[in-house]
Amino acid sequence: MPVPGPGYSITVRVEAPPSASAAGDLTGAIGRVGGVITAFDVVESHADRIVVDISCNAVSANHAKDITDALEALPGVAVRKVSDRTFLIHLGGKIEVNSKVALRNRDDLSRAYTPGVARVCEAIAANPEDARRLTIKRNTVAVVTDGSAVLGLGNLGPAAALPVMEGKAALFKKFAGVDAWPVCLDTQDTEEIIRAVELIAPVYGGINLEDIAAPRCFEIEARLREKLDIPVFHDDQHGTAIVVVGALRNALRVVDKQIEDCKIVVCGVGAAGSAIIRLLLHKNPGDVIAVDVNGIVHQGRDDLDDNLRSIADTTNREGMTGRLHDALVGADVFIGVSAPNLFGAEQVATMADRAVVFALANPDPEVDPMEAQKHAAVVATGRSDYPNQINNVLAFPGVFRGLLDAQARGISDAMLLAAADAVADVVDGDRLNPSFIVPSVFDPAVATAVADAVRKAAHA
Ligand SMILES: NC(=O)c1ccc[n+]([C@@H]2O[C@H](COP(=O)([O-])OP(=O)(O)OC[C@H]3O[C@@H](n4cnc5c(N)ncnc54)[C@H](O)[C@@H]3O)[C@@H](O)[C@H]2O)c1
Repeated sequence: MPVPGPGYSITVRVEAPPSASAAGDLTGAIGRVGGVITAFDVVESHADRIVVDISCNAVSANHAKDITDALEALPGVAVRKVSDRTFLIHLGGKIEVNSKVALRNRDDLSRAYTPGVARVCEAIAANPEDARRLTIKRNTVAVVTDGSAVLGLGNLGPAAALPVMEGKAALFKKFAGVDAWPVCLDTQDTEEIIRAVELIAPVYGGINLEDIAAPRCFEIEARLREKLDIPVFHDDQHGTAIVVVGALRNALRVVDKQIEDCKIVVCGVGAAGSAIIRLLLHKNPGDVIAVDVNGIVHQGRDDLDDNLRSIADTTNREGMTGRLHDALVGADVFIGVSAPNLFGAEQVATMADRAVVFALANPDPEVDPMEAQKHAAVVATGRSDYPNQINNVLAFPGVFRGLLDAQARGISDAMLLAAADAVADVVDGDRLNPSFIVPSVFDPAVATAVADAVRKAAHA
């Protein structure tokens, strides 16, 4: 059941009679239709009327409309203007470039730009490695997308992907001091994407691929890793895998199970699911059963592409066949990165005792977390309105901080595993419980711990 949140937040400017009951009438009308008021400001006051800005959270765009209709229906009240606060913070974009050097006079100019800069250019031409010391390459990451899998919204194209990429860049800066810049490519051709990234690579210390649809994302990442001398990381794959593997380590500590004894069902074998399975396999789980839209992945299926074939070859030791509901029977762990509302409490009841359920499909999970809690011992989702939010922001800022500090030329599974352990270890034994298996995304210790772990693994 969705609850009003800041994602649908509006500010309504209303004109109302200056009566003693005006504030109560306005807030009461909003409350009756389920809006949650976050601010109430009188912006004008006259003998015959007041003008008020009321900010409130809604569930959806339709709900926001219900709220303004409820205000308009009050006697003597007129709605002057409705502002969508989410759109307001996007006006003109969310990031900008700032100069790190002062440009006050000719002296400054001569060193930051010509003629002085020429000697720095020559130094880099003579020794290209100096680019990591003398340019933004030291601290800059390209956030590259083709707009083919934007959030859960699908193929929206490069321009519509830009608000997400800007947000990503803002998070990089906020959580790890990394300068990231959106690169939204106007192509969805694998060869063109690879070539474009290759061509822009000299500027960057790392490439963060983002919202590129599976299975194309696998080839693009693999080939760029071969070609480039900087790390290439697809956040939808590895950022998710790091946080899931870290969270699972803590969840299994809560339920007192060893991963070697666990049957783990991973539902969704796209970008996120494939990477989760590959990282999990390093931890020697009892078995992993992968399930996609066509059922359990096994070697006998005749619809396997290269990615599914490699998953089939490394999972499902007993050659299980069937659907998701069959896979769940007796499973210790469910990890869902697939689609909404696939099962209910009755299927969770068929899992092993002290089951762990990570239902991560966004915005609506594979199973309602309230239903899952009836039988599972630990439940996590991707949502911010439930405990145990599995969110990539726990991983990617620290991962790139560590990679850039190490001047890493590539990224290995050992680094990803070190990052996963670091995320898990931020939750110390005293704080660990079924509702707290991952740290808060705002815990400043997370990015530092992940960066340290990645840097050490890079130097190992
Ligand atoms: N919370 C998080 O941190 C997090 C991170 C990554 C992805 N996700 C969510 O996971 C989901 C998948 O993301 P992705 O990027 O891997 O997508 P994707 O399109 O690459 O893969 C989707 C996979 O789900 C499978 N699937 C679809 N419908 C299914 C069904 N009815 N039953 C079983 N399997 C089904 C598909 O076959 C495919 O294997 C999305 O909802 C995404 O928002 C959440």
